[in-house]
Amino acid sequence: MIGQETQKRIAVFASGSGSNLQVLLDRAAEGTLGGAQVVLVVCDKPEAKAVSRAEQAGVPVLVVIPKEYPDKASYEARILEELRSKQVDFIVLAGYMRLVGPTLLEPYRGRILNLHPSLLPNFPGKDAIGQALEAGVPHTGVTVHFVDEGMDTGPVIAQETVTIEDKDTKESLTQKIQAVEHRLLPQVVSDYARGQIRVNGRTAEYLK
Ligand code: GRF
Repeated sequence: MIGQETQKRIAVFASGSGSNLQVLLDRAAEGTLGGAQVVLVVCDKPEAKAVSRAEQAGVPVLVVIPKEYPDKASYEARILEELRSKQVDFIVLAGYMRLVGPTLLEPYRGRILNLHPSLLPNFPGKDAIGQALEAGVPHTGVTVHFVDEGMDTGPVIAQETVTIEDKDTKESLTQKIQAVEHRLLPQVVSDYARGQIRVNGRTAEYLK
């Protein structure tokens, strides 16, 4: 049983369907996320399904629309204000389609995890699944990594390979990748919440 004092408070950022957000919400609710709870969902698209998933789970949602702010720093300052008021310990980017800028990165450096649908450093950036299909490689996969200032360049925490078969389409490969994501992401978030992962320079280390 994890004591109250070790419970981590998480914010999940999402821009789209939020299926990974849903897994984190479910695991937190059933108490199998390393004692962590999701205390805030941040979404940059008001119409995203992620918003209704958070509402359904009774978790506060901050919808922030970038074009309503004069620049990225003030947009992220609004998010930071909410993170601080909710005493967020760490952030999980689960399909958040924006590069994190210094306003958020500096106060949370080493405490922001990102999920990416490829075996980084292969196929960073947008449409990683399409990039892998286009390249004709036999394998792609899923990466969870710490966020730094680059595009999908931070220290890798965990990766899992997914085989690409000749018959795979974008849809079928996306399904296979998402099935892996829904298992790998909560596992890493749980391990991190328990203090089993730390950053050492460019490397993420498991302490178990
Ligand atoms: C996931 O494939 C994730 O790797 C990528 O965006 C997708 C989000 O899916 N960064 P969902 O919104 O969690 O369903």
